[in-house]
Amino acid sequence: MNEQLIEKIKNLKEQRNAVILAHNYQMPEVQDVADFTGDSLGLSISASKTDADVIVFCGVLFMAETAAILSPGKTVLLPDKNAGCPMADMITADQLRQLKRKHPDAIVVCYVNSTADVKAESDYCCTSANAVEIVQSLPKDKPVIFVPDQNLGQFTAQKTGRQLILWPGYCRSHVIITQEDIKNAKSKYPDAIVLAHPECTEPVRQIADYVISTGGMLKFVKESAAKRFIIATEVGIIYPLKKQRPDAEFIPASQNAVCPNMKKITLEKIIWSLEDLKFKITIPQDIRLKAKKSLDRMIEVLPSPV
Ligand code: 13P
Ligand code: SF4
Repeated sequence: MNEQLIEKIKNLKEQRNAVILAHNYQMPEVQDVADFTGDSLGLSISASKTDADVIVFCGVLFMAETAAILSPGKTVLLPDKNAGCPMADMITADQLRQLKRKHPDAIVVCYVNSTADVKAESDYCCTSANAVEIVQSLPKDKPVIFVPDQNLGQFTAQKTGRQLILWPGYCRSHVIITQEDIKNAKSKYPDAIVLAHPECTEPVRQIADYVISTGGMLKFVKESAAKRFIIATEVGIIYPLKKQRPDAEFIPASQNAVCPNMKKITLEKIIWSLEDLKFKITIPQDIRLKAKKSLDRMIEVLPSPV
């Protein structure tokens, strides 16, 4: 059944001169049909470099918006228009403008998990892979506003030794993981290395061995000789980890760490998307140009080695 769908996707991709990008949390069959899989930073770089006419973005809305901002000449499609990111919607451009009025000297850094309008109000964008490097690069005498994820914000503040003005946003699929979950997994597998995403809460980050992006996890595991890993992030990451290291064991810290929005993309929806060129992501030109500045600064700063 899947073979027929995959064949159809291949043909449609050729007809449309399309490229398929998929986030590491996508369902296995979706990751398998993608031309490029990766974390938010890797996907943004791919979207800015491709010479395809059409980008089918298998991820959530802010990722497809990022591709549309970076590649204005291309048709960017999100196969399910309801695949959003609740964390991105936790701050509006109006709320950010109010915060900026309270701190008129501050530099604004926004996590890429934000709307195009919020990016347009920000000076720098960042992902979980380069937030620390971006904040480190800012002048020391300037206050810094960091939105919307308080957990990535706290982590970045701790790593850089800077006080950041935070917004109380969070990711439900990550804050559901508890320190107790990690302790339970550790008691069963004491030799396992704990890798946690910076969207996890402080108690989880505290007992993790490494706090890194999903792309960072894939890189770490590839280079590590260890055989067992406890993974504190969305469970979809287990599939590419296992693909990369079939000899290793990956224990999800919590089976509840699921992002329902990431699971909305299916092979059928990719076909419909390519057939009918939907759902097209368009960004008003004034917003796009402002948002692009913050994104351009982001993709220049690569993450440092783990
Ligand atoms: P990364 O893949 O960039 O680590 O981000 C995780 C995430 O939550 C995307 O929504
Ligand atoms: Fe948004 Fe969390 Fe889903 Fe990532 S995992 S897309 S931050 S809700």
